[in-house]
Amino acid sequence: MAGSKQQRHRQAGSEYAAQAKRAQAPWRWMALAALGVAAALTAPAPARAADAYPTRPITMVVPFAAGGPTDVVARTMAAAMSKTLGQSVVVENRLGAGGTVSAAYVAKAAPDGYTILIHHNGMATAPALYSKLPYKPLTDFSFVGQVADVPMTLLGRHDLPARTLPELIAYIRQNQGKVNLANAGLGAVSQLCGMLFQKAIGVELTAIPYQGTAPAMTALLGSQVDILCDQTTQTLPHIKADKVKLYGVTTSTRIKALPDTATLAESGLKGFEVKVWHGIYAPHGTPPAVIDRLNGALRTALKDPAVAARLADLGAEIVPQDKQTPEGLRTWLQSEIEKWSPIIKAAGVKAD
Ligand code: MLT
Repeated sequence: MAGSKQQRHRQAGSEYAAQAKRAQAPWRWMALAALGVAAALTAPAPARAADAYPTRPITMVVPFAAGGPTDVVARTMAAAMSKTLGQSVVVENRLGAGGTVSAAYVAKAAPDGYTILIHHNGMATAPALYSKLPYKPLTDFSFVGQVADVPMTLLGRHDLPARTLPELIAYIRQNQGKVNLANAGLGAVSQLCGMLFQKAIGVELTAIPYQGTAPAMTALLGSQVDILCDQTTQTLPHIKADKVKLYGVTTSTRIKALPDTATLAESGLKGFEVKVWHGIYAPHGTPPAVIDRLNGALRTALKDPAVAARLADLGAEIVPQDKQTPEGLRTWLQSEIEKWSPIIKAAGVKAD
């Protein structure tokens, strides 16, 4: 399986180079002279192959379960980008290992623009969590651009006795070893948020990992787990329907969607801050003309009032234009790796 992926990668990676060689070969110029200008215009060339892109559907790989927060952003973007690209952008959920299964898959896919990845902070936290990570976030991808930032909320099951953050902390302290916390695996933002929460209160909780926070939320709603830190893109409807206990938002300031809800920092966890950011990636070596097309589609999607309204409804905030660029994503990813790696190492959290 891995061999065939690498083979496809090699084949597609060499496709443009082979086309370039063919276009430059002397016999081709002689043939072109003989056939005339019309034939020259139909000759394959790398620029023309990339210009024709896309000629078939594009797969957008999502690292977590369908119906969850990353999936919601992915499907909103895929539908909007397909309008500009003139081809379907099909969402494919490849689950496992806190998002690293998907990232590894796209890193090894053919660099032709037909397999792309949407991922969040997990791109930056995985290197510190996984000592045998099968890809390098900064060098195994071509960057398309950033999409939107999403606040998180700390929730409890509806029948948890604690009503406020101080009550929750007291409850956890009284029930040490009995309280569990759901997450979407090492590399998920729910895990990152949970890790910071445990560090802030100085108590270890039992982690219950799922393949995404969609199933984790189902478990919370069914009172099978106690606590979940999750993104507003999934949690807002459950908060509004009063189906969960809300203990605070994870951003440094209050959010528009929940103006009366205090931040965790305000409620006593000084300096607590997690904000989820999303980027779109292609395998390293994707031709610049293809990246331009994808980035143009990303930026057009983010200008679409329907996309803006949908994301705002979910508590998400479209990133400024300078972050919507390949360089904006690359520099942000680098800064996030530098920010989170020492924090994760100090927390002693490891996947292997
Ligand atoms: C998801 O889409 O399920 C989440 O983004 C998982 C997570 O990172 O917590």
